Amino acid sequence: MSPTRLSVVIASTRPTRIGHHIAQWVLDAVPADVEVTVHDLRELALPFLDEPGQPADGNYAHEHTRRWSAAMQATDALVLVMPEYNRGYNAALKNAIDFLYAEWEGLPVGCVGYGWHGASFAKSALRQTLERVKMTVVEGPGLEFEKTLTQAGEVSASPADDAALAAMFRELLAGARPPQDRPTS
Ligand SMILES: Cc1cc2nc3c(=O)[nH]c(=O)nc-3n(C[C@H](O)[C@H](O)[C@H](O)COP(=O)(O)O)c2cc1C
Repeated sequence: MSPTRLSVVIASTRPTRIGHHIAQWVLDAVPADVEVTVHDLRELALPFLDEPGQPADGNYAHEHTRRWSAAMQATDALVLVMPEYNRGYNAALKNAIDFLYAEWEGLPVGCVGYGWHGASFAKSALRQTLERVKMTVVEGPGLEFEKTLTQAGEVSASPADDAALAAMFRELLAGARPPQDRPTS
């Protein structure tokens, strides 16, 4: 049977970001037999939404949108690793979500936040957006500064965080798009 294709998105784009360290903690816990691809929004470097049409129509004028669309169509489950900025999630992530529409429908998505208080504000804001685009949201852990994460990005996850991450993967993989439902385009 074809393996489940999981995408892990590193949402932060700052030159001095710590997001890749948290992403590594997530990657280290990916169950065996899962095909993982990392999508780094800093490398993806999408411009601010510049499609002339509505994303819901799916007629993409730009190559960068088509590439991002193809990457998400080739995904059966998604993990978003995102920081909290000013009690929301970061703008680059919102922009990347706004670019597409149909690609998101029914896709199971786990959110791993990090910041003060485990990025709880960002996670609840993100949930609203993900539900709007009809993704199936799976709760993930939030790493907290001065508890399970240093501001330099060293992760010292608690057993509860590790358990929450494992539970997130279990739920994500249980709900992952089965091979027969993969888009053909
Ligand atoms: C613009 C900005 C706003 C921030 N606002 C918050 C906030 O509201 N809550 C929080 O927990 N941390 C906040 N922080 C601290 C970030 O959690 C911290 O800088 C973290 O390292 C950001 O992730 P990154 O380094 O991967 O970009 C903010 C940081 C920035 C740059």
